[in-house]
Amino acid sequence: MPKLSRREFLSAAGAFALLPRGPLSAATGITPLNAQVGDIQLLPEAYGTTSIWGFEGRAPGPEIRVAQGARVQRKLQNALPQATSVHWHGIRIANEMDGVAGLTQPAVEPKADFDYDFVAPDAGTYWYHAHNRSTEQVARGLYGALIVEEADKPDVDREEVLIFDDWLIDPQTSQIAGDFDSPHAQSHAGRMGNYVTTNGTYNLTVPAKQNERFRLRLINASNARTFPLQLHGMEGWIIALDGMPLKEPLAVTEPIILGSAQRADLIVDVVTEPGEAAHILHLDRQESFSQVAFEVDSKASESRRGQPAALPSNRHEVVDLAQATRLNLKMEGGAMGGLRSATLNGQPKSMGELVEAGRFWAFNGSADGMDNEPLAKLSRGEHVQLRVTNDTAFPHAIHLHGMHFNEMGENGVLGPLRDTTLIERGAAREIAFVADNPGQWLLHCHMLSHAASGMTTRIVVS
Ligand code: C2O
Ligand code: CU
Repeated sequence: MPKLSRREFLSAAGAFALLPRGPLSAATGITPLNAQVGDIQLLPEAYGTTSIWGFEGRAPGPEIRVAQGARVQRKLQNALPQATSVHWHGIRIANEMDGVAGLTQPAVEPKADFDYDFVAPDAGTYWYHAHNRSTEQVARGLYGALIVEEADKPDVDREEVLIFDDWLIDPQTSQIAGDFDSPHAQSHAGRMGNYVTTNGTYNLTVPAKQNERFRLRLINASNARTFPLQLHGMEGWIIALDGMPLKEPLAVTEPIILGSAQRADLIVDVVTEPGEAAHILHLDRQESFSQVAFEVDSKASESRRGQPAALPSNRHEVVDLAQATRLNLKMEGGAMGGLRSATLNGQPKSMGELVEAGRFWAFNGSADGMDNEPLAKLSRGEHVQLRVTNDTAFPHAIHLHGMHFNEMGENGVLGPLRDTTLIERGAAREIAFVADNPGQWLLHCHMLSHAASGMTTRIVVS
């Protein structure tokens, strides 16, 4: 056998070290992502464990963290008793990797698998979740954080990813309550939990120091709950929304409202004295409770640092409103308003027929969902201004797949880039985007019971 030169030997050794081991699947070398049943200590210990569906049997599933521009490859292996898929929420992704069962791919049957392979073009805080029977599968725990790191990281001491959820627990059994297609949840505010967690626990406590600076990545993974959050013993700035950096850090002076699927990145300084705790408070009507506690044991330094710099922006074409195509999306239906009529499979239907078919909401008079005629067929690069009108008695968190949009303020000002916009009952909002990503893109309410009962459409870009 010829002797290896030192260089060849080193590269051979390097190759050996990179051979698939442990979590790599032998056949293709793609890291598996197992959707499976698991038992976790979700409730306080006295109540025993709760059976969930989670990626790797956990909820949240494993954090996926990559550098901006890097490739993400995961082999979804379905060990659940139900078909599933994975949607990479907020990623400007190639359409065939978007994970919408029944639109961009067939649902992955039990025991089958599917290779996801995409590039993450934008730095920021994203998440992944099941996108087949989402009302059930996300409620059972099929989600996790997807973090894309910028090359120039902000100057902070620590980072915490905080995923908020609420679970509907049957108090008799300590298990997740069924009835995922409850007509009451569908026609009202969606499936609301009775047990609120952060990172799968009700009493998450983070050790901290006075004057320590954190980057907090907040993710709302709940089916329908809006989280109004307030800092207590911490002061700071919002630096990004739905992954996308704000032009300037925005001082937190009022509650942060996080609708279903929305994210916010904060930079905060702990100002509480050692021996006390700072909190992210959850404001619930008249009350507030600690969503996350930061127990301060010492001082990191004598004083706070100065105002942080903005994050480097992600490359994004600016919308030109003067040439934008104007579109409308009118939301109707639900309890305390009702859907008198709408079309289903292209046929006009009465209220009784719609209720019979489990449809309580309509977009522009249609309750069809994604099989419907698309809301719009756009050409690639087309600029769009979309007015979303909430003619219902409930708030809705409207999510567009595949592209971020600007929330527009008064007088046509282009506000922050988002992928999910929360629209209060009776309100309207304009959003604007450049349709630069070809494919079939879902546009739906992220209150998942609503999406399942009529609040879904799609946009086609070609
Ligand atoms: Cu986060 Cu269509 O989903
Ligand atoms: Cu809704």
